[in-house]
Amino acid sequence: MKNLAEELNIKLKDKSAEEVLNYFMSMYRGKIVLGSSLGTEDQVLTDILVNIDKNISIFTLDTGRLFSETYDLIDRTNKKYGIKIKVYFPDSKKVESMVNTKGINLFYESIENRKQCCNIRKIEPLKKALPGYDVWITGLRKDQSLNRFYTHLVEWDETHKVLKVNPLIHWTEKEVWNYIKENNVPYNALHDKGFPSIGCQPCTRAVKPGEDFRSGRWWWEEPKNNECGIHVKEEE
Ligand code: ADX
Ligand code: SF4
Repeated sequence: MKNLAEELNIKLKDKSAEEVLNYFMSMYRGKIVLGSSLGTEDQVLTDILVNIDKNISIFTLDTGRLFSETYDLIDRTNKKYGIKIKVYFPDSKKVESMVNTKGINLFYESIENRKQCCNIRKIEPLKKALPGYDVWITGLRKDQSLNRFYTHLVEWDETHKVLKVNPLIHWTEKEVWNYIKENNVPYNALHDKGFPSIGCQPCTRAVKPGEDFRSGRWWWEEPKNNECGIHVKEEE
């Protein structure tokens, strides 16, 4: 399957995001899903995908700690496009046990705690969202962070056994915003308040103009840890 990803990277090298998505939508009908955090990239992808086929499957992982602005955006997006983004929740027993043992805001205390929280609230729910699909579309971009620079357009995800497709991999932040403005795509109200990248409320803060795109995420940790784990590759 790794070979297939390599072949597809060569085949689709010079194609636009729309062309890439059209390709996968026709080749993997009913077997393709967008994982959306409701970030700007995912909103662009939602717009493109809904224009291709309104029946596209979209899911979001609700950690239980999202901003109210993000919940509003789920609702606004569903209404604008006439779609139903499927929401996955973490296992309530595991959340209860973690919070009652380690505290509600355990993530500030150690990397181990932070990873445990991301694991229970995001990584495990992702394992419920992907089975049954062959292609997982994400909004990753190379210039979001150093960690993401080595991401390809198409990758084989060994953990979930799916082709992971990142159609906006070469887009800049400016290109994402141009698309949003030109196409009137709904976006999170927090973006106008200094939040370029938005995750869970306690783990995201506003950044100053010129500061790194992801520097408001898990800001108390070193930038090299700047991932929740859903995009961390299994060692090969
Ligand atoms: S994160 O790993 O740091 O949280 P980020 O917010 O940059 O990720 O989003 C990158 C991509 O990961 C998104 O475009 C989306 O495809 C996927 N993703 C992140 N968070 C979620 C979520 N809560 N639900 C579904 N997909 C998500
Ligand atoms: Fe928990 Fe923060 Fe990870 Fe959200 S981003 S799952 S609140 S540690």
